[in-house]
Amino acid sequence: MLIKRPDDIKSGEITDKELYLNRRQFIRTASLGAAGLGSGLLIPGLLGPLGEARGATKLTGTGKSAFSTDEPQTPLKDITGYNNFYEFGTDKSDPKRYSDSLKTRPWTVVVEGEVNKPRTFDIDEMLKMPLEERVYRLRCVEAWSMVVPWIGFELSHLIKAVEPTANAKYIQFVTLHDPEQMPGQRRGVLDWPYVEGLRMDEAMNPLTILGVGLYGEVMPNQNGAPIRVVVPWKYGFKSIKSIVKIRFVEKEPPTAWNVAAPQEYGFYSNVNPTVNHPRWSQASERRIGDFFRRKTLMFNGYEEQVAHLYKGMDLTKLY
Ligand code: MTE
Repeated sequence: MLIKRPDDIKSGEITDKELYLNRRQFIRTASLGAAGLGSGLLIPGLLGPLGEARGATKLTGTGKSAFSTDEPQTPLKDITGYNNFYEFGTDKSDPKRYSDSLKTRPWTVVVEGEVNKPRTFDIDEMLKMPLEERVYRLRCVEAWSMVVPWIGFELSHLIKAVEPTANAKYIQFVTLHDPEQMPGQRRGVLDWPYVEGLRMDEAMNPLTILGVGLYGEVMPNQNGAPIRVVVPWKYGFKSIKSIVKIRFVEKEPPTAWNVAAPQEYGFYSNVNPTVNHPRWSQASERRIGDFFRRKTLMFNGYEEQVAHLYKGMDLTKLY
């Protein structure tokens, strides 16, 4: 992003972590096997997906989605320990370290603007939406990527419930603004609150979800608890965290990174290996945990599902 250079991952650290996690996974699988339980089993409340004892709450009754990738999933430790969430600091390790101060109950999301049925949703009401596991690739603009088993529901369900008017052309999302809970907001790194936006057809696309958890458990604070957007064919910064407002509007809304650096970040921000960031190439990426770089895929590999949304648009100008 603005401050961090791409690829600022300490590869030694990640590799060590990988080895460590794989060893843990091996030991756990072996011991479960010995107990006659088989591998890949979760023991609710006792073991997390990688065998650590964790206090997180399970999300039950989630279906599997056909939109999921079957690529290897990034270990939980990396998904929850290597984050961008500037409300808690600009270092990748800050969100995990400092986001305990975020209170995720009570939590409501106000839905307003160009809709016939404006409404305030309570987070517990939203958890009753048809939740699915969506294993998506996440490609950060800084040229690293992960594979995350999100739990969430299609944004289109919520959109239909509030009945947008004919004037609703875009949706704006707004993160909580509370410097008491989000100490990073005491510094002027970005224009707070963090805001993002999607065109209506992008928001209605079945790939676009509101994420409420990952790895079968409620969303960790550092990943955007209790509810965030996940748009897998766009750079990670479009996937705004800890949202409190969804506003339906007629004109393209301002977005946090476009306001901060318009020459570097556009409204669309589709993953596109042929359009470089002004300061680095977007042609390849490093999957967290991998040693070698891999080629970045057009629309992050979701071309079949979303290319039609941009037909006739010059993506070198509308980046
Ligand atoms: N949302 C808010 N409110 N604040 C942020 O700083 N960072 C974005 C996005 N959503 C950010 C945010 C960026 S740059 C990325 S890459 C993803 O969150 C990272 O999501 P993750 O930490 O769950 O991997």
